[in-house]
Amino acid sequence: MSLSLNLDMEILKALRSPDGGWVSGSDLSQELGVTRAAVWGRVEELRSVGYEIEASPHQGYRLIASPDALHADDLMARLPTPRVIGRDIRVFKETASTNDTIEKLARDGAPEGVVVFAESQIRGRGRLGRSWISPAGKGLWFSVLLRPNLRPPEITRVTVSAATAIRRAIRTATSLEPEIKWPNDLLIDGRKVAGILTELSAETDRVRYVVLGVGIDVNQMSTDFPPELSKVAGSLRMAAGSIVDRAALVTVVLSELDKDYTRVCDGQFQEVAEEWESVCSTLGRRVTIEIGGRRLQGRAESLDPDGALLLRTQYGHLECITGGDLTIEK
Ligand code: BTN
Repeated sequence: MSLSLNLDMEILKALRSPDGGWVSGSDLSQELGVTRAAVWGRVEELRSVGYEIEASPHQGYRLIASPDALHADDLMARLPTPRVIGRDIRVFKETASTNDTIEKLARDGAPEGVVVFAESQIRGRGRLGRSWISPAGKGLWFSVLLRPNLRPPEITRVTVSAATAIRRAIRTATSLEPEIKWPNDLLIDGRKVAGILTELSAETDRVRYVVLGVGIDVNQMSTDFPPELSKVAGSLRMAAGSIVDRAALVTVVLSELDKDYTRVCDGQFQEVAEEWESVCSTLGRRVTIEIGGRRLQGRAESLDPDGALLLRTQYGHLECITGGDLTIEK
C-alpha cells in the first residue's frame, strides 16, 4: 500500500519535524513547489488512510496521530539519509513471501537496499523448511535485497550482523532485552520473538545477491499463536505489557540494520561479532545440533571469523557449524 508520489513523504516529514507543532500550508506549498490546493489534496488523502491531521486556516497543519498500518512514504519520511537499507521501501497488503518478492526484484536487477514489507504473508517461511505464521498487522514481515562483496562462506556475517542490529533496535524502541540464540533467533524470557531467514544466490566464489528475510512478532497476544507454538513463541507486546508502535519500530530496525551492514561491508565484522558474543545466550552452553541428518553434541565455544559457531564436541574436537537446528541443554 503506497501513498501518492513523494509529496506525501515530504508532507509527513515536515509534520514530523522535531518541534512537532504547526506547519503552515503556504510554507509547505513553497518548499514542495506545488499549490496550496495540492497540499490540501494530499492532506485529505492522508486523512483517508488514517492519518489524523488537524488543519487551521491561520496555523496550517498538525499531525495528531498515525494509523497502525505501514505506509511506504511514511516509513521513508521517518528514516535518516543517506542510507543503503531502506533507500526504497515497498509495502504490500499481502504477499506469498516477501523473500520471493525480493528475489524477483533481484532477478530484475534492482539495486541493493530495497525493502519489501507485507502486512500479511500467505506462505511465510522460516529456516529448515518450516512455515512462518504472518498474521495481518500483528508483526513486521519484511525482506531486504543485499549485494555484498563477500564470498559465499562469509554470508553468515550478514545474518549475525542482522541479529545484532535487530536486537539493538528492539532494545532502543521498547527497553526490552532480547538475547540471541545462535544463529539468528531473538528470544525474550525464553520465547522466540524474531527470526531471520537468509537466502542467497551465488556462484562457487561469488555472491550474486542475498535476500535477508526478517520476521518480528510485535503485537500478538498468546492466543494468536497456534497451540504448538504457545509455549515457545512470544511477542514484544506480551513481553512489554503494552502495544508496540510498528512504524516507529521499523525506523529503528532499518537504521540499525543499515549501520551493521555498513560495518560488515567496511571490513569491521569483528566489532559486530564481539557485540554478538556479548549478548548470545548460546555460548558456553551445552547444545545439540541437528544438521543434514547428523546429530552433534557439545559445548558452544565461540564464533569463527565468518560468524560460524565453533562447537567443542563430546569427543573433544572443534566443529565449525554454519547451519542446522540447535537446542540448548537445560
Ligand atoms: C526463522 O526463524 O525460521 C526465520 C523466520 C523468517 C521469517 C521472515 S518473515 C519475512 C520473510 N519472508 C518469509 O517468508 N520469511 C521471512
